[in-house]
Amino acid sequence: MAASAFSASSLFGSRINEPLTLISSKSRSKLNSKRTPPVKISCDYSCLEVKDVYYRPPGTQINLLNGVSFSLPEKSFGLIFGQSGSGKTTLLQLLAGLSKPTSGSICIQRYTNEGNPNQSPKLLVPERVGIVFQFPERYFVADNVLDEVTFGWPRQRSGLQVKEHLALNLQRAFNWVGLNGISLDKDPHSLSGGYKRRLALAIQLVRTFRAQVPDVLILDEPLAGLDWKARVDVVKLLQHLKKELTILVVSHDLKELQDLVDRSWRMEMGGVLREECL
Ligand SMILES: Nc1ncnc2c1ncn2[C@@H]1O[C@H](COP(=O)(O)OP(=O)(O)OP(=O)(O)O)[C@@H](O)[C@H]1O
Ligand SMILES: [Mg+2]
Repeated sequence: MAASAFSASSLFGSRINEPLTLISSKSRSKLNSKRTPPVKISCDYSCLEVKDVYYRPPGTQINLLNGVSFSLPEKSFGLIFGQSGSGKTTLLQLLAGLSKPTSGSICIQRYTNEGNPNQSPKLLVPERVGIVFQFPERYFVADNVLDEVTFGWPRQRSGLQVKEHLALNLQRAFNWVGLNGISLDKDPHSLSGGYKRRLALAIQLVRTFRAQVPDVLILDEPLAGLDWKARVDVVKLLQHLKKELTILVVSHDLKELQDLVDRSWRMEMGGVLREECL
């Protein structure tokens, strides 16, 4: 498959939140007299809401998470930091649906422009969550980029429409993470550290694009094990993705990520999460 020459926006158009246009009453009556249909302005937004989550793994006596609550509005960047063993990865696994909370809820709530809930909260579903684990390159299984990113796609009997849809998703994801210049024949293990992380992100985006954009993109220690150049590269990439996606990162690298962060929390030992500004 050839590398993409299209931008994501040219392929898919603009996203839902159009800018609000204010119209004076004079021009409004002028518009009305020409019987212009009323313009519906939608300014609602969604928020990831985690409420009072407790987690005790089956067969154990200790809670790994104790009453975790936080919220993250769409297209914002959240950072969780804290001591090793405090429960950060455990929380991410619950968000990704890999385990279920013992109690509490993990939902997406939509709000009106005035900040009122405009429908009942929807459970966050795994299909709408992208998760990139620590050292994702360790889990690459294929010997070329195309097979790596399409691993798990339907191989047989999928019609042209399905194939086209998947190809567009791939193209869109590669554009978003800046992988569009790369040869799809390349061995994923031969990529630079930064490009391996880009590929890991693209895999998650392609997976979640099947439903729409992900409700949240989660990254566990995205800078771990990278040299300085790759670290700068990944920070820039996250800055870029933040314009389109809601991102939640677990990291010890507070200084490097500081400029991106909208909300931050410290996970204390025993799985207690507290908001703490950087
Ligand atoms: N299935 C499990 N059963 C029992 N204990 C577990 C289980 N999974 C994780 N733990 C324990 O839960 C605690 C939190 O682990 P977790 O991996 O979430 O920590 P972390 O904050 O991500 O640490 P790090 O910064 O080192 O990655 C640790 O003490 C870990 O040993
Ligand atoms: Mg961890």
